[in-house]
Amino acid sequence: LPQHPEIGQIIFSAEEIEARVAELGRLVGQEYQHRDLLVLGVLKGAFMFTTDLVRHIYPHPGSLEVDFFKASSYGSGTSSSGVVQLDSAFDWGSVRDKHVLLVEDIIDTGNTLSRLVALMREAGAASVRVCALLDKKARRRVPMQADYTGFECPDEFIVGYGIDYAEKYRNLPYIGSVRPEFIKH
Ligand code: PRP
Ligand code: MN
Ligand code: MG
Repeated sequence: LPQHPEIGQIIFSAEEIEARVAELGRLVGQEYQHRDLLVLGVLKGAFMFTTDLVRHIYPHPGSLEVDFFKASSYGSGTSSSGVVQLDSAFDWGSVRDKHVLLVEDIIDTGNTLSRLVALMREAGAASVRVCALLDKKARRRVPMQADYTGFECPDEFIVGYGIDYAEKYRNLPYIGSVRPEFIKH
């Protein structure tokens, strides 16, 4: 597939992502081998990572459920508002006594995940772990360390593989930077 004309540099290729996601699936599978697992993807950004990851979770857990939780804090800009908007329709009862794996595309300030981990614990999850494809450590504002990380991410504004800029580029199979002339200031 030709590269999107508004993308400058490719930071993680589709092939690199695919290989790493398969490895993460094996690591998760080993951990949850004899347990019942609830994979909880954080929408919208983690939609692609979540669907790819679950195909690779092996050995099979006792049972594996997939659900999604919508949380956002970025709006249309390139930096976090710091206020995490949560899914008001989520059925919190579905988390009770479950081994929850929160799946995120990226940890930036840590606001979204620290909030979600706390909420899952309050909802009575048996355990809560985090799997994040990308970790942008340079931008952290609240402590948050994933249990499974795909790649360390440079401190650049990136898109693709679920990650958007003003709702664009989520469909790209690779992760890259937007050419500066397409960033609105
Ligand atoms: C992005 C990203 C993570 C979060 C990470 O979501 O998908 O969920 O921000 O940033 P943080 O560590 O600073 O909280 P966004 O708010 O853009 O919503 P979206 O997933 O719907 O694009
Ligand atoms: Mn998100
Ligand atoms: Mg976003």
